Amino acid sequence: MKNYDIALVGFGNVNRTLAQIIGEDQERMAAELGFTLRVTGVIDLRLGAVIAPTGVDLSALLELEPGSTFAGLEGFRELSNEEFIRTVPADIVAEATYTNPADGEPAVSHVRWALESGKSVCTTNKGPVAFAAEELTRLAGERGVHFEFEGAVMSGTPVIRLAAGPLKGVGITGFSGILNGTSNYILGRMEAGLSQMAAIEEAQDYGYAEADPTADIGGSDVRLKVMVLAHELLGVRLASSDVATEGITGITAEMIEQARAESKRWKLIGTARRDTDGVVTASVGPRLLDDDHPLSGIRAATNAVTFHTRYLGDVTIAGPGAGRVETAYALLSDLIAIDAAERR
Ligand code: HSE
Repeated sequence: MKNYDIALVGFGNVNRTLAQIIGEDQERMAAELGFTLRVTGVIDLRLGAVIAPTGVDLSALLELEPGSTFAGLEGFRELSNEEFIRTVPADIVAEATYTNPADGEPAVSHVRWALESGKSVCTTNKGPVAFAAEELTRLAGERGVHFEFEGAVMSGTPVIRLAAGPLKGVGITGFSGILNGTSNYILGRMEAGLSQMAAIEEAQDYGYAEADPTADIGGSDVRLKVMVLAHELLGVRLASSDVATEGITGITAEMIEQARAESKRWKLIGTARRDTDGVVTASVGPRLLDDDHPLSGIRAATNAVTFHTRYLGDVTIAGPGAGRVETAYALLSDLIAIDAAERR
């Protein structure tokens, strides 16, 4: 049976969960998917690196005491990220380090080094896709490898692949979405009477929020996702400055109450549309939606995106947009896509 050797770059919630799935669910996956996965290397800024060409002992990594590092584990190496990524014996690199909303680094370099050294890449990181999708996709093509990133938007809920696959040819003219679970959760909790501050703390406890939650409530997380979707769905490369962005910090309890009295809800909406001259306009901001709007009923940390299309009118998909298992599944769906491409 076909096997893929995987190197994990970043060992936080997402890649840790992928490692768990690979460790525990291998038999079912082999039967269902027709291939196996073996982790041959892991690197993390805080923990260090391990490399084992015959397979890393995942249980040793997953059972590490809080505060300890990989030092002392079999296969421990002192390597820079670049040395690790270029030399680790792997077919595919799973990149799940933090997202830098300013320029996507160092994740852009991680992906570039992997592709340059002939490895396919799957990532949940919005940075490399928002800032360098074009370059990195071209590089993957030149090297005969693959670059997949379903989890950059709406975690494992298939948005990018839905547009590129089943909706191909439908004529997508734009999209509007609830693309940040944290802010949607916060708005819902404010409707239930909580202060914005208390709701932010709850969202952090649930683990929806970014390391720095200002990216969630200030709109820059959604801006990156709009940049990703504009490129993937509309074929246009937007800079951060092209997307007028406002977050939910200005939404007060009074505004929420007034909206409910009028059977409306505040939602943080990311949108981009191509006008008849071909110009794409994009924005992120709080919008007041009527209760019968398709995005008005999207609750808690759920995300949804409506594709505006030529032949089907509006098509909406809703599903998880964050969460460790949901985001690790996005990587698995990328691995499945890479396998399918390899078999063609
Ligand atoms: N912090 C993000 C959210 C996680 O709340 O949607 C997924 O990008």
